[in-house]
Amino acid sequence: MSTAHSGKVEFYRHQLGEDEIASWRKVIDTLFLTLGPQVAGFEADLGQFLVRGREGVVAPHVVGTSCCSLGLLVALRALDVGPGDQVITTPMTFASTTNAILQLGAEPVLVDVEPRTGLIDPEAVAAAIGPRTKGLLPVHLYGQLCDMPKLRAIADRHHLFVLEDSAHGIEMERDGVRPGELGDGVVFSFYATKNLTSGDGGAIATKDAKLAERMRRLRNHGVSKAAAERHGALYQHWDLTELGYKANLTDLDAALLRPQLPKVEAKRDRRQALVEGYERKLREAIGVRVPTISRRGVPWLVERRGTSSHHLFTIQPPVALRDEMLAALGKAGIGTAVNYRAIHTLTYLVEKLGLARGTLPVAEEIGDRTISLPLYPTLTEAEQDRVVEAVSAAWREGS
Ligand SMILES: Cc1ncc(COP(=O)(O)O)c(C=O)c1O
Repeated sequence: MSTAHSGKVEFYRHQLGEDEIASWRKVIDTLFLTLGPQVAGFEADLGQFLVRGREGVVAPHVVGTSCCSLGLLVALRALDVGPGDQVITTPMTFASTTNAILQLGAEPVLVDVEPRTGLIDPEAVAAAIGPRTKGLLPVHLYGQLCDMPKLRAIADRHHLFVLEDSAHGIEMERDGVRPGELGDGVVFSFYATKNLTSGDGGAIATKDAKLAERMRRLRNHGVSKAAAERHGALYQHWDLTELGYKANLTDLDAALLRPQLPKVEAKRDRRQALVEGYERKLREAIGVRVPTISRRGVPWLVERRGTSSHHLFTIQPPVALRDEMLAALGKAGIGTAVNYRAIHTLTYLVEKLGLARGTLPVAEEIGDRTISLPLYPTLTEAEQDRVVEAVSAAWREGS
């Protein structure tokens, strides 16, 4: 499974092992492969995880989905987003966030991000609210939680919903606030490179029972009862009550996910140690502080008033050096990614939204400078040293 000896430092390696294989294997011998007891069990487990350590706090309702992208679509539909509505979101995100809004015939209104974190700027959100604004869709970029108390207060003043895109983790916290705690709903991703993964998968969490019920229907075409709920001695008819999607998690995926939950926090701590290692080693190797968005410069993270999920570690070389550095790292056998080029600069959204370069300067600059480096619990010190060596060589050559 390990590629540590192949000569390449992969950008990501999943951590699925014997526990997950055993859990998955058991499902094969059962009746339900999808929307059965494993999905329900995972939903309950994730709900409990989200309120872990909090005496007396009721767990949210969790609705397992086939991915975060469709989770966002289902959640926005359940929140009655449709043609003519505007949803305020961030340009520093993956295509899914804006796609979900567009797929419902609504309009994403992009506002700029904070320079130190890349997170949506609450002041910019407040300034963008208009008569067609229906809700806010913040993204907890790289695993840092957005300023949820501020966003919630803005939303409440204008009677808007807040739906959180928490594709980058379930395990972060900021000043005592966790994903989904202040939002009307939160959507998670279990895509192949995520901290918790089933290859593809997702989940929505909400404290609102009625909303959860609608999401449960919408993820399964809009039918009144899933097959497992109708299973019994006598046949039961089902009804189609609204137009939904085929967007559910399967029992096979849920079985892979369940054994990972108890390991999530230990793995985050290992990634945090790697992030601190990157910061120190890069400073020593290059001799200057390499600009990063991950921890340093983010007061609540440095002061440990919470934690990032440390899903991604990004460095920000000068704009002129970024693509050259990506090529140099590739040649040195280091896997990289770009999270993200500002979403409004991509062809379809240029055509659709027509936001000229210069409109959202902070996001554009981050998008032009950023590189994500390998970060996962089994990344070895020796591999990290190779990454640091390759980055500093490219840095010195380019400056
Ligand atoms: C911020 C963000 N939102 C949404 C998604 C979509 O997740 P999924 O692949 O589970 O649909 C991703 C996936 O990379 C993401 O990074």
